[in-house]
Amino acid sequence: MKKVLVVGSSNRDLIVTVNDFPRPGESVMGKSFLQMMGGKGGNQAIAAKRAGAEVLFISCIGKDENGTAIKQNYQSEGLDVSCMLVSTDKPTGVALITVDRHGENNIVIIGGANEDLLPEKMMDLDMAIEKSDIILLQLEIPVLTNLEISRRAKKSHKKVVLNAAPAMTIPQELLALVDILIVNETEAEAISGIKVKNYPEKAVQHLMANGADQVVLTLGKKGLLYATDSTGIAHLPAYEVDSVDSTAAGDTFCGALVAALGRNMAWKDALKYSMAAAAISVQKMGAQPSIPNRTQVEAFLSQNSLIHNP
Ligand code: RIB
Ligand code: NA
Repeated sequence: MKKVLVVGSSNRDLIVTVNDFPRPGESVMGKSFLQMMGGKGGNQAIAAKRAGAEVLFISCIGKDENGTAIKQNYQSEGLDVSCMLVSTDKPTGVALITVDRHGENNIVIIGGANEDLLPEKMMDLDMAIEKSDIILLQLEIPVLTNLEISRRAKKSHKKVVLNAAPAMTIPQELLALVDILIVNETEAEAISGIKVKNYPEKAVQHLMANGADQVVLTLGKKGLLYATDSTGIAHLPAYEVDSVDSTAAGDTFCGALVAALGRNMAWKDALKYSMAAAAISVQKMGAQPSIPNRTQVEAFLSQNSLIHNP
């Protein structure tokens, strides 16, 4: 089993559920309010851990109640948080999440302490990279941090996996340093400039031509496209489940994939494992409470087959 290093965000998620999203200028009565742990970094670290990986997680929290609760939560999950940072002046990150009756969400993120996750503050970064085999990154921390980690990881011959979420453009250098790029349609479009709905294959080819060695393009209910040098572009259909809340489905997928690859699962099996983990996660509210463990994913896989959607 290989060691996974996750560097990324920690947020307190404030979740409201509604029938329909309010339109601009409109107020609507909501149905429920929940506070849960989240942040793409934390979600992915927990997803990798629950999928069986040994995980070192580096993140930056505030000197506040949310930060304390978040760190305790990571410890109870069994993550190694010995390299965790605390911001001197910024509050723990917050995400305002609205979930509608179809399980779709809208999210506003206030980075806060996540903006202080800077390379010059990460004293143990080289040691952390040395200790790990695979490094998993997202875009809720400063892009300069991701660049510096990827540069150092490359020098030490470690694998870099980037989940380019939330959607934004990234420097060409970062894309070139990435071994595995995981994106959804919006994210792929933000990076490639290609209309992914019409030309998904073209977007994948573009991302590979610009440096990513392997690309996974997730397509929600339509499954995913994946490409490695050797296989060309292939499609995998999704598992059909009823979605209650899609928050962190992508995070669950990324963490599970890294864990599965870390135990040397073949690509296609690792992708199926991760899609199953994500399919389980959308059936429950919230980010971290909905992330399944390995036993749950294996049980799901033994009961479900992939649905063939066009
Ligand atoms: O990917 C889901 C996460 O995005 C939520 O947990 C929220 O914190 C936002 O960062
Ligand atoms: Na969920």
